[in-house]
Amino acid sequence: MRDPARAADLLDWYDRHARDLPWRVGPRARAAGIRPDPYRVWLSEIMLQQTTVPAVKPYFEAFTTRWPTVSDLAAAEDADVMAAWAGLGYYARARNLLKCARVVAAEHGGVFPQGLEGLLSLPGVGPYTAGAVAAIAFDIPATVVDGNVERVMARLHAEHTPLPQAKPILTEMAAALTPQERPGCYAQAVMDLGATICSPRNPACGLCPWRSACAAWEAGTMAELPKKAPKKRKPTRLGIAYLVRRVDGAWLLERRPDKGLLGGMLGWPGSEWGEAPEEAPPIAAEWKALNTEARHTFTHFHLRLTVKTALVPMDRPPERGEFVEAEDFDPKDLPTVMRKAYDLARSG
Ligand code: ADE
Repeated sequence: MRDPARAADLLDWYDRHARDLPWRVGPRARAAGIRPDPYRVWLSEIMLQQTTVPAVKPYFEAFTTRWPTVSDLAAAEDADVMAAWAGLGYYARARNLLKCARVVAAEHGGVFPQGLEGLLSLPGVGPYTAGAVAAIAFDIPATVVDGNVERVMARLHAEHTPLPQAKPILTEMAAALTPQERPGCYAQAVMDLGATICSPRNPACGLCPWRSACAAWEAGTMAELPKKAPKKRKPTRLGIAYLVRRVDGAWLLERRPDKGLLGGMLGWPGSEWGEAPEEAPPIAAEWKALNTEARHTFTHFHLRLTVKTALVPMDRPPERGEFVEAEDFDPKDLPTVMRKAYDLARSG
């Protein structure tokens, strides 16, 4: 069911209420012929996966200031990109981001492929990102479905099948509504609608351009939708982090292997994380355990990290990790869980 009138209602709303976002070419500028930079669109979409707009903004500004083009990013040092990403989470995204930039620079002359298939061939670019870049940067009528769009579709059609089972149904609904006219603006309009009006709790239905067509509004079931399959309880893992300071102020750090959790990031040497972590001190020292644990929740588990600290003399070699001089160390370069351990050590 193509329904250009429905899309037109949303585009009218977007023309008046589009959010002003640093990576966005708004509806007026777009109508004046300004085209979005595919690099900025791609970068923002990778950053926005599983992260909110307010959290992404400062990272987006920092990345585009430091690496204004995809070729600049491709030429960056791995460690600099990982450090600049620290705090955004899901670090495999950062490693793939760099891989993708290098493929675009080396194999595509620094120009993003302009079709869905070419975009899909890039590292770290799945159907969502390819669709979003194709639509937003190149005005291809691709279907773009993120969590916001799923919620909007579930309510518009009063679809009660729970997520994730409902995904293909909701994607089909989104595809049926995607217009041939202004698909880039449309893709951003549905996401904006989901983010600002059709919000998870207390949707502002009074302001919604799709209210009169909304089956959930008609039935009064907005708050129940989308249905979600019950979440599995997350297990708790335990670990030990060793924060070693040398008398000259240097910190003992270790780069984590590329594969696996927090892959490629800098962190404190530590034990494995599991049910009963074994001591694994990276250097001979007299340890002091803090009485507060660092706690962090990952996608699949909660972590409780015992923080142990020690001060060591200049001439003691570590068994693992490397000392980083005080002036080269910035806690902002650490992933959030490691930063939490650092903050505890500094305050305790
Ligand atoms: N969320 C993710 N990508 C977005 C975009 N391009 N516009 C609005 N919200 C978004």
